[in-house]
Amino acid sequence: MTSKQLKESTDYLISKGFEAPEIGVVLGTGLGRLVDDIENPIEAHYNHIPYFPLATVEFHSGKLIYGLLEGKKVVVMQGRFHFYEGYDLIDVTYPIRVMHMLGIKKLLISNAAGAINSNFKKGNMMLIEDHINLQGGSPLAFKNVGAFGDRFTDMSEPYDLDMRSKLETIAKNENITLQKGVYVSVVGPQLETKAEYRMLKMLGADAVGMSTVPEVIVANHLKLPIVAVSVLTDECDPDNLKPVNIEEIIEVAGKTEPKMIKLFRELIKII
Ligand code: HPA
Repeated sequence: MTSKQLKESTDYLISKGFEAPEIGVVLGTGLGRLVDDIENPIEAHYNHIPYFPLATVEFHSGKLIYGLLEGKKVVVMQGRFHFYEGYDLIDVTYPIRVMHMLGIKKLLISNAAGAINSNFKKGNMMLIEDHINLQGGSPLAFKNVGAFGDRFTDMSEPYDLDMRSKLETIAKNENITLQKGVYVSVVGPQLETKAEYRMLKMLGADAVGMSTVPEVIVANHLKLPIVAVSVLTDECDPDNLKPVNIEEIIEVAGKTEPKMIKLFRELIKII
């Protein structure tokens, strides 16, 4: 990744009309329908944007959408890149750097995750308060990282307190259950064994997933305030573990999607 490549990606999007977005949004598995509400949308498919990684997993539609939402200029990633698809972590987080270069001032992230905390139920949402990186690498581990920000990026409060508190208030007002906790990122794509779920619980995780953490690290590198919410799609109880399938995960995410959309729209309105 070079500044020149980032500039080319950004210039392409600006030439398509992606003019000074204020807010970036990353939509996770089964959560893509927020884009239906965008006014005057302009779309850019990932495989048309110079230097973007190519989208592979077919249930991710893979495009950037720009337009107005709640009166704000937004740029939305419908579908993201995962380490498990074979990209390196620099590729996975490339779009975050591009959205930052386009001018976003805040970033909202969603994902689908498994519930490790036994008080949390399938279909609940969880506000991420902190995370554990178990992907075995960093998107900041490259030679000229210093040209883009601090190499030794501070991670003492990686999730913006103000947006977190606003989301909690919105959830309360809307009568939406919003759990809070620690998200652990694993590589995947295989799901966890019973022994691994026991381990993750002991480590202090409340939810587990295969994304988000690299994006959050890069957002912190760029000093870009972020907030992230998981949809808990399955209950990971090692003493009563049923086989999960990805179709079911997508189905639960889809059923929860209207509540996620509500949270994000209300937040976008007031930030
Ligand atoms: N692990 C377990 N369950 C999940 C995951 C995961 O990574 N993502 C969604 N549900």
